[in-house]
Amino acid sequence: MTATAGTAATEARRAIVVLGMGGTIAGRAAVAADVVGYRAGVVPVAALLEGVPLPAGWRTEGEQVANVDSKDMAVPLWRDLLAAAYRHLQRPDVGALVVTHGTDTLEETAWVLQAVLQPERPVVLVGAMRPASALAPDGPGNLADALTLAADAAQRGIGGVWVTLAGRVFDARTVRKVHPMRLDAFAGGDAGPAAWVEAGRVRWLALPPAVTADAARAARIDAVLAASTWPRVEWIHSHGGADGALVRALLQQRRAALAGGDADPPLAGLVVAGTGNGSLHTALTEALAQAAREGVAVWVTTRCAEGVVVGEGGRGGYVWPVTDLPPAKARIALALELLWRAAGVPVSPAGPGKRAG
Ligand code: SIN
Repeated sequence: MTATAGTAATEARRAIVVLGMGGTIAGRAAVAADVVGYRAGVVPVAALLEGVPLPAGWRTEGEQVANVDSKDMAVPLWRDLLAAAYRHLQRPDVGALVVTHGTDTLEETAWVLQAVLQPERPVVLVGAMRPASALAPDGPGNLADALTLAADAAQRGIGGVWVTLAGRVFDARTVRKVHPMRLDAFAGGDAGPAAWVEAGRVRWLALPPAVTADAARAARIDAVLAASTWPRVEWIHSHGGADGALVRALLQQRRAALAGGDADPPLAGLVVAGTGNGSLHTALTEALAQAAREGVAVWVTTRCAEGVVVGEGGRGGYVWPVTDLPPAKARIALALELLWRAAGVPVSPAGPGKRAG
């Protein structure tokens, strides 16, 4: 990656590459009134860009990486997107990337891009809550906002991965989908929005610091691009009546897979969304302790929609690392950490998983 941290976009770098992944923004229904029974991931990215205003002085290029309903997001699709994004971010004429994506797993893809690429140029993810065929689709406005945000961030030398929907801007670490229907379906938890896109202008709450990646970034990217699968990490919850049976079943699968008697990859890690401040049911704790003894990596987070686990975690005296990431992103972070460790590549000092980074 050749970008220099904090370097504002130059004239030579006036392209925004729009990578299409699918989603409702590219969805179509048989009738305009149908905003539930449509098919996501149908309309090509080139068609999405038609008629969308461009920020002055910028041009766009579309590339269709995939066209899927993001509920079906998977490691091969993330790998294709990472490869495309990495390729374009190394072009001197590209100032920023925009990714059109389904909202259901958008926060996961945003985190994959941030954790792996740590891009010094801005990468903006955008989706929509109404299909392109709806009476009042929100996709074109959101896409226009994404282009505005991409150009603004590039001009200011702001890197990193951002998400915009309904005029609000969130960072990749804190953004979560919090509503299944509302047009402003995303939130940033305690952090709130980082910026707003209003009438074609971006109002940042505070300008983010420049992105500086460590020396091992390229090796981490290469390791992820070379891997056809990631270590298997499952995400479970603590809850009333949690008795650890799920963990014991997963351990049986791991033993069978390691012995060659199960074709699925063996369990390598568990992310546990604890109650409240990361507390875990005693019966679940006992099952997790067995998992850890058998070599499974265990991370704890909270199942609360906002906030992070404070201190070393909830009452109950477990010893596993606590992460500030919400469960969906913690699962990705743990899988990546295990992948990088297995490849002998240093994990980013700033993360991607445990505590701030
Ligand atoms: C999807 O995630 O692909 C469908 C739902 C949406 O984009 O809102």
